[in-house]
Amino acid sequence: MKNFTSVKDVKNIKKLVKEGLALKKKPLAFKKIGKDKTLVLLFFNPSLRTRLSTQKAGMNLGMNVIVMNANQGWKFEFEDGVIMNTDKAEHIKEAAKVISQYADIIGIRTFPTLTDKERDYQDFILNKFIEHATVPMVSLESAILHPLQSLADMITIEEQKKTKKPKIVLTWAPHPKALPQAVANSFAEWTLASDYDLTITHPKGYELSKKFTKGATIEYNQQKAFEGADFIYAKNWSSFKNYGQIEVEDANWMVNSAKMKLTNNGKFMHCLPVRRNVVVAGKVLDSKASLVIEQANNRTYAAQVVLKRLLMK
Ligand code: CP
Repeated sequence: MKNFTSVKDVKNIKKLVKEGLALKKKPLAFKKIGKDKTLVLLFFNPSLRTRLSTQKAGMNLGMNVIVMNANQGWKFEFEDGVIMNTDKAEHIKEAAKVISQYADIIGIRTFPTLTDKERDYQDFILNKFIEHATVPMVSLESAILHPLQSLADMITIEEQKKTKKPKIVLTWAPHPKALPQAVANSFAEWTLASDYDLTITHPKGYELSKKFTKGATIEYNQQKAFEGADFIYAKNWSSFKNYGQIEVEDANWMVNSAKMKLTNNGKFMHCLPVRRNVVVAGKVLDSKASLVIEQANNRTYAAQVVLKRLLMK
């Protein structure tokens, strides 16, 4: 593994998940491999889980961890050949090389514009960092993917599944703001690569990029999709087709107890943060079916297994 930016960087998902679960049992077993190594985490957007779990993962491996709010200083210029006479004070060419001198591994969280589809789906900022950095890079969520979240989700499913090939349903859910497609794209990509049975349900107009959903069943009737499901993964995303737009604000798509009753005693998943009684009923979140806290716990071991692989390469 040279960098970690998507499921494509992983040769054997099952093996990685198993290694993550082993780290969960003995988080400090590899405390020496990160000694005198530095992990720099750059956040262009706010975070609770990714920030703390990746920091903890680095510390569990004995690394020194530096976290920077990259959106609070001056702005970076990412375009080549521009005259830098605007508000952007530092070019990515210098910044990525300089940060690489201080770091053995760099993690970066970016966010989509939700207006420039082409730029977002090139993962422009992440790839500019990768182009100019001289150390391994880890995506802490990019414009289009959230691989550490998905790896944590695969670890959670592996822990909880009762059959080899569980039925997993990714359901669109309401939200007052236009949100990225990253978690949904990534969850679909990792679930399908893990050879699970994936159904995606959403109102018409919320079709995700086929690049990430090939092999999934698309079902526009949410209740039909929930029938017999072992896992329900709720997430809002804005339209891919009518890029970044909110197509409908249908509160009926909220996950509630009645819908969960249609499942095969299914578990409820969400990456968090979640808006109670908008995305999902508080009653579902507070029920035994909810895995959201354990998903967040597994973020540490997902990050740790990735950092371990990069340190040992
Ligand atoms: N799920 C997730 O990435 O949470 P944060 O935005 O808090 O990091």
